[in-house]
Order: sequence, then C-alpha cells, then structure tokens
Amino acid sequence: MLEVNNLNVAYGRAQVLFGVTLQAPPGSLVCLMGRNGVGKTTLLKAVMGVLPTREGTIFFDGDDITRAPTHERVRAGLGYVPQGHETFPQLTVAENLQVAREAAPRQRPETLNEALDLFPALRGLLKRRAGFLSGGQQQQLAIARALVTEPRMLLLDEPTEGIQPSTVQEIEQAIRQLHASGLTVLLVEQYLELALRLADAFVILDAGEVVRSGSAASLRDDESVRRLLAV
Ligand SMILES: Nc1ncnc2c1ncn2[C@@H]1O[C@H](COP(=O)(O)OP(=O)(O)O)[C@@H](O)[C@H]1O
Ligand SMILES: [Mg+2]
Repeated sequence: MLEVNNLNVAYGRAQVLFGVTLQAPPGSLVCLMGRNGVGKTTLLKAVMGVLPTREGTIFFDGDDITRAPTHERVRAGLGYVPQGHETFPQLTVAENLQVAREAAPRQRPETLNEALDLFPALRGLLKRRAGFLSGGQQQQLAIARALVTEPRMLLLDEPTEGIQPSTVQEIEQAIRQLHASGLTVLLVEQYLELALRLADAFVILDAGEVVRSGSAASLRDDESVRRLLAV
C-alpha cells in the first residue's frame, strides 16, 4: 500500500533522512520507532507531502506520489494525525469534524457516526470548543478528524504521547479496531509494550537511517532493540 524507497529529506542544508526505505503492505500495522530526534516525524511529513523529498520515491497504492501536493495524497486515501494532537481550538468538536468532512468530498454519510462510535466520549462533547478538551480528548478528536476523510491508510504520530493512562487504553483499542477493520496503519510509537501489542512489523530509525526492520515477532526478544529505543 505504501512504499518508500531511498528517501532523503533535509531542512535547508541539514539532511535529516538518509536513504530511508520501508513498506507497509495492505492491511498491515507498521510501527515506526526510534529515539527523539531520529527523524520519525520528518518521515511522516515527507509521506504526506508537507516536506519535499530531496531524493527517493514514495508510492501509494501503486501510484508515484513523490511530487504530489498534500491534498492529492489525502484524496488518494492517506490520513494523517500529526504529533501533538493539533485541533482548531476555537471551533467546537462538531465543527472540527465538519471542516475535515468538507475537505473530503466523496465520503459516505455514515462516516461521521463510525468515527464517533470509535470514541464515544466525543459524542457528549460535540458542542464544546476543542481548546477546552483534555489532551486525551483532543487526541481522540484529531484521530476522528482524520477518519472522516475516509482514509485507506492512516499515519499516526505518537498518539499516546503525554496522555493519561485510561485514555491511552481507549486510543490503543481504537487503533486495534481500525486495523482489524482493514485499515493500513503506520504508527509512530515510543511506548514499546504498546507497539508490541499492536504491530505486525517494525521499522527502527536511528540518526535518520533505518537500522532495523522486521516482523513484530522477530523483534520481541531482541535486546539490542531496547538499546536503540532507550532514551
Ligand atoms: N523545522 C525544522 N527545521 C530544522 N530542523 C528540524 C526541523 N524539524 C525537525 N528538525 C530536526 O530534524 C531531526 C529529526 O526531527 P523529527 O523528525 O522531529 O524527529 P522525531 O520525530 O524522531 O523526534 C532533529 O534533529 C530535529 O532537530
Ligand atoms: Mg516526532
């Protein structure tokens, strides 16, 4: 579904990604891991076209999207939940979802209900301004907002970061359900145990390079993996 080949990405003269290659087959949940600053967010931004690719290619569903603008990637079926659960703080929960729906012209009418079924807590908060939600509720809204565009693949950047444990469980359950329903997922996650519970496969970045990848099973008992992830 997603194929990234030999990707180089830089901020001005500072190169951050070096020849990154990874694949996410249809229906897979791939976990992208690595310490702070290794380039995980940069990679997701490049896949979404928020950052330009210097070298390499990105294929989505067989199409070369390396130079496509972000809105075309969204239309092609890529959904993105950026790090830091960004929402529109002045808009209500319902308005946040509506804005996202308008960006995706062809969704089915039931999409909104399905997104809310995943996060029932949001139903009681539809009229509340997003800026007044807790961090965990904002994260749920950010995921729901990506879902109402009807993605076939979802990129999630540290959805559990800084969120209280009870809500982390709800988010984990939601990701599990989305994966079970057939959505392809690329998840950036620092919390190894959660990643081990959810992922089919792993890619570990260090200093902008892929240093390890494989099935979840192959990495489960690998001590060197813990070293690559230690802060
Ligand atoms: N806008 C930016 N301009 C310049 N350098 C940046 C920018 N954003 C991130 N970086 C640098 O790129 C590297 C990778 O950052 P990032 O992709 O955010 O890492 P991660 O998500 O793995 O923590 C870091 O060294 C970071 O300082
Ligand atoms: Mg990051």
